Amino acid sequence: MTAKILDGKQLASELQADLAVEVAAFTERSGIKPCLAVVLVGENSASEVYVRNKRAACERAGIIGQLHRLPATATVDELLALIGTLNRSPEVHGILVQLPLPKQIDAARVLDSIDPLKDVDAFHPENVGLIVQGRPRFLPCTPHGIMRLLDRNGVELAGRHVVVVGRSDIVGKPMANMLVQRGIDATVTVCHSRTTNLPAITRTADVLIVAIGRARFITAEMVRAGAVVIDVGMNRGEHGLVGDVDFAAVREVASLITPVPGGVGPLTVTMLLHNTLTAARLAVEC
Ligand code: GUN
Repeated sequence: MTAKILDGKQLASELQADLAVEVAAFTERSGIKPCLAVVLVGENSASEVYVRNKRAACERAGIIGQLHRLPATATVDELLALIGTLNRSPEVHGILVQLPLPKQIDAARVLDSIDPLKDVDAFHPENVGLIVQGRPRFLPCTPHGIMRLLDRNGVELAGRHVVVVGRSDIVGKPMANMLVQRGIDATVTVCHSRTTNLPAITRTADVLIVAIGRARFITAEMVRAGAVVIDVGMNRGEHGLVGDVDFAAVREVASLITPVPGGVGPLTVTMLLHNTLTAARLAVEC
C-alpha cells in the first residue's frame, strides 16, 4: 500500500481564505481590526522563520501582526513588563511568546502572565483547564490543526486507538486531552522517551501522531498496515527540514500520511489566526 498524502498546505490555504472573509465581516461590523502581538526573545533561526510565516499569514487574513523583539540577554522582569503592557493594550487581542525562550528565563512564569483572554496559544493554566474539562475558550493551534486535517479527510476517531508519541505541553498533552473528549471519543495512549517497547504500542495505533522531536524516529516496522500517520516533527539538519517519521518507508505501509513540510505546519499557523479572531470577538463582548 502507498499512502495518500494529507495536504495540509492546501487545506490551510482554503481555511485561511474563509478566515479572511470572517475577519473582514468582523472588522466591518465592529470597526476593529484583530491584532496579534508576537514576542520574540533572542535570535533562534527556526523561530525567526516561524514568526515570519505567522506575520505573513496575519497580513493575508486582514489581521495586524505586531512583532516585539527583546535581546537574548533580556531578563524575566523585562519580558514580564512587555507582556503587562500588551495585556493592558486595548489594540492587542492576542499575545504569543515564541518558544523556546533563552535558558535564563522561566517560561512558565512568562506564559502564566499572559491575560488568559489574549492567550491564543492556549498555554495558560486557565485555558488548559478549560480544554481538559471539555469547554475550551481557545484550542491549542497544532492539535486543533491536526483535528481539522483528520476531519476534512474523513478519518473516523470514535472508538479508534490513537497513539500520541511525545508529551510536550505544546502538542502531545493537549492533543491527548482533545482526543478523549466526549464527542471525539478516541481511545488514547500517550508514549514518550521513557516508554518501554514503543514499537509494540505504535503498531497497535489506528492513528499515530508523532511529536517527539527526533528526525525520522518512526520507521516502517513501527506502523500497522493501513494506519493514519500524522508527523508533527520539524527537524532541521544536514538533510534540510525532516519530520519525526521516515516518510519514504512509512508511506509504503500507512493509508494516509502527512508530509514535512506541507503537512501539519501550515495548519498550526491557520489555527493561530482563528484564535486571534476569537480573542478579538471576546474583547468586543467584554
Ligand atoms: N514554538 C514552536 N511551536 C510553538 C507554538 O505553537 N507556540 C509558541 N508560542 N511557540 C512555539
